[in-house]
Amino acid sequence: MNRVDVITIFPELFAPFREAGVLGQAIGRGELSLEAHDLRRWTHDRHRSVDDMPYGGGPGMVMKPEPIVEAIEEVAGKKGERVARVLLMSPQGEKFTQAKAIELAGEKQLAIVCGRYEGVDRRAIELAIDEEISIGDYVLSGGEVAAMVVIEAISRFVPGVLGNPASTETESFQQDGLEGPQYTRPAEFRGLAVPEVLRSGDHAKIARWRAEQALACTKTRRPDLLRPHPEGEKR
Ligand code: ADE
Repeated sequence: MNRVDVITIFPELFAPFREAGVLGQAIGRGELSLEAHDLRRWTHDRHRSVDDMPYGGGPGMVMKPEPIVEAIEEVAGKKGERVARVLLMSPQGEKFTQAKAIELAGEKQLAIVCGRYEGVDRRAIELAIDEEISIGDYVLSGGEVAAMVVIEAISRFVPGVLGNPASTETESFQQDGLEGPQYTRPAEFRGLAVPEVLRSGDHAKIARWRAEQALACTKTRRPDLLRPHPEGEKR
């Protein structure tokens, strides 16, 4: 993946995000492009409205289909001549996982629509969205922060983004478990010493200790990650 277009009513939220850390550096080097587009650009009324009252009544507002579909068509191409996979951030979506991050990193180009209010008119989803993604079982006020989570997780698999790509291999979830504890200097801090084995210089012993720690950590904190999962189930 080397290009992400975000469609949002708050493009300004992405300005500091695209400048910070390894993502900012990769964008600066031209390895990745990230553009946030103001959905209101695709409105046609005086008030630049992106939402309206729900048919059938009920609380809150619903995002209108026209600006969203037009925005996607311009940014990602019309259906049939698509240049990007189009995601909608939504609590109704498929749960985002490390496996999904790796899958999406394999796409050339992504477009991410950030929902707001009570949701998006279903016809916009049917006509223009390839898939809905949720980052977890809770409801955010909008999809912007969720989109940043997805972009950051995916970007780690884009060649050149991480200085040390090997680090993705030992990280939590990468091998169906959590990582164990990490230490840096000083060797003793407020009475707590770094485990002796890590200072032994015996690399085989260190690797064994790390594997044991990782397993123990996963057993106590996330035993669900160790249970065999049904064939094909995504995690
Ligand atoms: N928008 C609101 N809640 C969300 C969630 N949990 N994941 C993705 N987008 C959302």
